[in-house]
Amino acid sequence: MTFYKPYIFILNLLKLLLSPVPSSSGLGRSPLKAKTRVRVPLGPPFFSIIRILGVELSRSYNIAVIPGDGTGPEVVAEGVKVLDAVSGRYGFKLNTTFFDFGGDRYLRTGETLPDSALEELKGFDAIYLGAIGHPDVKPGILEKGILLRIRFELDQYINLRPVKLYPGVDCPLKDKGPEDIDFVVVRENTEGLYAGAGGVLRKGTPDEIAVQESINTRKGVERCIRFAFEFTKKRNKDRKLTLCGKTNVLTFAFDLWERTFYEVAKEYPDIKTDYAHVDAITMWFVKNPEWFDVIVTDNMFGDIITDLGAMIQGGMGIAAGGNINPNGVSMFEPIGGSAPKYKGKNMINPLAAISAAGLMLEHLGEEEAAKGIEEAIIKVTSRHLKSLAAGQMGYTTSEVGDLVAGYVSGSDQ
Ligand code: IPM
Ligand code: MN
Repeated sequence: MTFYKPYIFILNLLKLLLSPVPSSSGLGRSPLKAKTRVRVPLGPPFFSIIRILGVELSRSYNIAVIPGDGTGPEVVAEGVKVLDAVSGRYGFKLNTTFFDFGGDRYLRTGETLPDSALEELKGFDAIYLGAIGHPDVKPGILEKGILLRIRFELDQYINLRPVKLYPGVDCPLKDKGPEDIDFVVVRENTEGLYAGAGGVLRKGTPDEIAVQESINTRKGVERCIRFAFEFTKKRNKDRKLTLCGKTNVLTFAFDLWERTFYEVAKEYPDIKTDYAHVDAITMWFVKNPEWFDVIVTDNMFGDIITDLGAMIQGGMGIAAGGNINPNGVSMFEPIGGSAPKYKGKNMINPLAAISAAGLMLEHLGEEEAAKGIEEAIIKVTSRHLKSLAAGQMGYTTSEVGDLVAGYVSGSDQ
């Protein structure tokens, strides 16, 4: 563990200078794998010199870690444990820098994110987040001041949430198994009702008016939909993309979504398209989850349906997501929140955080290592855990982390 120091900037600069320019094999990459750093355009002569000098450039990534509130630090510790194991096995290096943003810091200093923090975070290859939300802080302050602010200011316009039922995991749906539940929700992550537009008039009077507006820009909607089509193509499962909306009532916002969806669809003739209203989709998640491959939707609908998705994949103990800026710095997190009542008890399930670490490696281009983490998680769910629920796993938080770390390092206990 290291703490942030100015010399990290110098190290970053050196690393930038030494990183290879993207090769032509980078063309056609999925948005998920898009490189997150701006490269200095050093040409082949520079590299010849480096090669002649015999310098071996190893893969290394600078990760900002924000453990956050509640059980965040416990699950992040297990994620980092697994990352250490996996990087050793697959031959790359992770440099972690810890930041103490969260409720305790806010209560101590009155500050959510210091102004300099966003600039600092932009210098990393990725951000690994535990959880934000503190029982002694009024709801909204930390969520908006830390989590949403990072998502918005780093323009992480995609919230990618895989819903996958692993073998050995209890599913609340009768007669559904891992072959039925394997889809991904692409949630728009910077607009909609979460953009903070609106206001209040005559507050506290009987005539009070509260307005919360849903912001949908052509640019924001289109880039999200394009990401979803590219992702569906790259995933190559059923090659089916479903737009989830509410075109029968939200006739301004979802008219824009629907028109954009079918316009972009013309560029992807081999991707099947489908549409479902958000209320209906909650019904289908329960009745026929096997119908879905990739779903694209707005910020609030995505927030809601992915909690339902988490439940059908075995609960908050396993659900992970990525806040992605395909051209910038992305952030990976378990989606379950800070679970304050389990804080410090070594009872919470770290698999969601470990899985988020896997998504982060996939995003950084370390696909083999990401697969290694997923396979290890599957061994743990199918061979060991009694349940995914906190306190009912049959193992403590750190024992679950040890099990996954053991499997990723190649032991098969
Ligand atoms: C999530 C969370 C956040 C959201 C909250 C904490 C602001 O529920 O990541 O789904 O609504 O996006
Ligand atoms: Mn949510």
